[in-house]
Amino acid sequence: MVHLPYLLLGIAPIASAQYASAAAPALAPRATVGPSAGRWESLGNLLVSPPSAVSWGANRIDIFGLDVKAALNHKYWNGRSWSNWHAISDKQLISEPVSLSWGDNRLDVFALGTSGSVIQQYWDGKAWGIEDLGGVLQNNPSVASWGPNRLDVFGLGLNSQVYHKVRNGTSWGGPGWENLGGTMRASPSAVSWGPGRINLFVRSALNGSLQHKRLNGNWGGWENLGGSLVSDPVAVSWGPNRLDVFAVGIDHTLQHKWWNGTSWGGWESLGGRWVSVPVAVSDQPERLGVYCQGHESAVWYRHWNGTAWSPYTGLNGTIVSKPSVVSRVPERFDVFALGTDHAVWHN
Ligand SMILES: *[C@@H]1O[C@H](CO)[C@@H](O)[C@H](O)[C@H]1NC(C)=O
Ligand SMILES: *[C@@H]1O[C@H](CO)[C@@H](O)[C@H](O)[C@H]1NC(C)=O
Ligand SMILES: *[C@@H]1O[C@H](CO)[C@@H](O)[C@H](O)[C@H]1NC(C)=O
Ligand SMILES: *[C@@H]1O[C@H](CO)[C@@H](O)[C@H](O)[C@H]1NC(C)=O
Ligand SMILES: *[C@@H]1O[C@H](CO)[C@@H](O)[C@H](O)[C@H]1NC(C)=O
Repeated sequence: MVHLPYLLLGIAPIASAQYASAAAPALAPRATVGPSAGRWESLGNLLVSPPSAVSWGANRIDIFGLDVKAALNHKYWNGRSWSNWHAISDKQLISEPVSLSWGDNRLDVFALGTSGSVIQQYWDGKAWGIEDLGGVLQNNPSVASWGPNRLDVFGLGLNSQVYHKVRNGTSWGGPGWENLGGTMRASPSAVSWGPGRINLFVRSALNGSLQHKRLNGNWGGWENLGGSLVSDPVAVSWGPNRLDVFAVGIDHTLQHKWWNGTSWGGWESLGGRWVSVPVAVSDQPERLGVYCQGHESAVWYRHWNGTAWSPYTGLNGTIVSKPSVVSRVPERFDVFALGTDHAVWHN
């Protein structure tokens, strides 16, 4: 029996027990009509963290997750077939992995090591490398990139303040971390819509409001965007000067706030009954998909088509982790989550 740490399954902080339903079938995901109009396929393995998927091109998907030894595992789609799973290193990790690609044939994966420092494992086009960025964080970091060789990592220190570290070119800027202050909870969400730009969102530990900080050459102050959130926020951008932020509200509906280039809109409630932190993906300008583990432990989603939100659609099947979603071409969304067998399932 594998004991799955609460932290790793990413279902915190909402008590999922209250959603347990007698009707929820204890089955692995099964075939349905989904975003890819496909059916669930098992990609195997036995993971103790939610999967993290990333795509650097139309014919490429990389998936990461922690195996039962807490080592980072990797599997990829090359446009024709899936590779086998392999362990990237035997380094033990204690948070869910966060993956990102800043260019063709480049991968970066971040997670906390056993001492709470940030461990980066990267594919440089030829080989895997590993680096310890130091620090002591409470939770998995958030990473953004605005261009080749640029990485900005954010996380919450033990004092609940937000810390930042930059890789510009070939090395990380010094041994320390920049303190951005605040009194925050869980994990921040960082997004970049263009060179030199980062928008950072994090939930206040004082009252659950959404706090925002903007990098444009220099950091601005913390901006209070209100709201009453019970999950981490997640931010996405479909183009220059556009931001969409999603989180679960205190009423357990999906909450949405957006920046249209001149002002903030929202909060808008998108309804539902959400268990996991939402996952937001944009496949093209003016288009968004937002996914979560919802009631009956199924994947639920709504899409924004430029003028309206689609109704909620569920992908039949029981999942035990939050989903990870990538769009490698417009109109196509690939969804990954752990099934009840803790294998990775793909729809
Ligand atoms: C999926 O679930 C819906 C609603 O629960 C049900 O109507 C539908 O028949 C199911 N489809 C499959 C393929 O199981
Ligand atoms: C990043 O590195 C480039 C090239 O070395 C340099 O020109 C630039 O000033 C650096 N930017 C920052 C923010 O350090
Ligand atoms: C909530 O906390 C933030 C700081 O984290 C503060 O700016 C804001 O005024 C507070 N809101 C209320 C309603 O107390
Ligand atoms: C953003 O929204 C505000 C308020 O609805 C509106 O007045 C403004 O024209 C919008 N800006 C853009 C660029 O769409
Ligand atoms: C978006 O969806 C709404 C409601 O279904 C529909 O009326 C509208 O035509 C759609 N817009 C586009 C661009 O598909």
